[in-house]
Amino acid sequence: MTDRPEPSALAYVPFVSVDNMMRLVNATGVEDFLRGLAGYIEADFLRWPEFDKTPRVASHSKDGVIELMPTADAENYGFKYVNGHPANMRQGYQTVTAFGVLSSVANGYPILLSEMTVLTALRTAATSALVAKYLAPKDAQVMAMIGNGAQCEFQAMAFRALCGINRLRLYDIDPAATEKAMRNLTAQGFEVVACDSGMQAVEGAQIITTCTADKQYATVLTDNMVGAGVHINAIGGDCPGKTELHRDILTRAEIFVEYPPQTRVEGEIQQLDPDHAVTELWQVMRGEVAGRSTPSQITLFDSVGFAIEDFSALRFVADRVAGTGFSQPLDLLADPDDPRDLFGMLGRAV
Ligand SMILES: NC(=O)c1ccc[n+]([C@@H]2O[C@H](COP(=O)([O-])OP(=O)(O)OC[C@H]3O[C@@H](n4cnc5c(N)ncnc54)[C@H](O)[C@@H]3O)[C@@H](O)[C@H]2O)c1
Repeated sequence: MTDRPEPSALAYVPFVSVDNMMRLVNATGVEDFLRGLAGYIEADFLRWPEFDKTPRVASHSKDGVIELMPTADAENYGFKYVNGHPANMRQGYQTVTAFGVLSSVANGYPILLSEMTVLTALRTAATSALVAKYLAPKDAQVMAMIGNGAQCEFQAMAFRALCGINRLRLYDIDPAATEKAMRNLTAQGFEVVACDSGMQAVEGAQIITTCTADKQYATVLTDNMVGAGVHINAIGGDCPGKTELHRDILTRAEIFVEYPPQTRVEGEIQQLDPDHAVTELWQVMRGEVAGRSTPSQITLFDSVGFAIEDFSALRFVADRVAGTGFSQPLDLLADPDDPRDLFGMLGRAV
């Protein structure tokens, strides 16, 4: 054993493991966490022009996609690594897993490395519910949820925390998924109805959330399933060739998106002409353009997930873990005594 010097303070980056993320969320309370997170996302949407923006960098294969999602403001740079593999679940893997980094723009040093599988589910749900606050009918009480996999309960918790929705109608092609969601959501005090079809699920619902996973053009919602005044929160269509809604719904709906250059490639609107009118959500939040303008309008959040939401989530977590035991120091950055003597540091470690 050689006597190795301990890494210096600059070598360490706070790391939030899955275990610490779960401890942090549970200590905060899931709904309080979602409200806090939504506040950070909204704050960043309100200063949208300050960010560097690019569609995410996607590497597609026959089984799924691996994506990098970068963005930056003047102070921080963030990126998320995320995959989407719809067949994974059948082999005991998650469909979506993720981790991410927040860095200082001033010197490029990472200031947080975090698990983001749990955090992505939370940020996706917080974004959906935040958007619904602007677009859903004000008197909405019932939400249909088609697709009862990993995202489902997070969506439900966020819609209760931000929009007061407590009544849910669930449908999944796999009854085991619905049973799992029923169990989890009933334990959280929701009023839940399990349905035998998507058609049955949307009966009497003012909000419809679709969060299915299939790497093909699917039709989870057909035109006749969507009545006047409904808000659709479409989560699962988020890749080229992967959509959930029939095209006829899109031509009847007012469509709201995160970042058009990404959504036009990945969202439901890939089915439409490239110049079909869409509204950017940051402008709605800033009061620059209208959200829902009539009670009978069908509003559609064509969600694909944008890098700024992950940046907000990393900022939120960085602030929450600072000075707590919810992160651990990770020896991530080489820090030689003389910044130019990286090789000497390697030699001294023999
Ligand atoms: N928009 C975003 O920001 C965002 C973020 C995370 C995940 N997603 C997407 O959300 C979707 C759901 O993710 P997940 O982690 O919950 O996946 P998951 O695999 O855990 O669950 C998907 C569920 O959909 C069900 N399903 C598939 N086809 C169906 C159909 N035609 N009708 C009803 N149910 C059907 C499956 O049985 C499964 O239970 C994925 O497509 C994922 O890529 C989007």
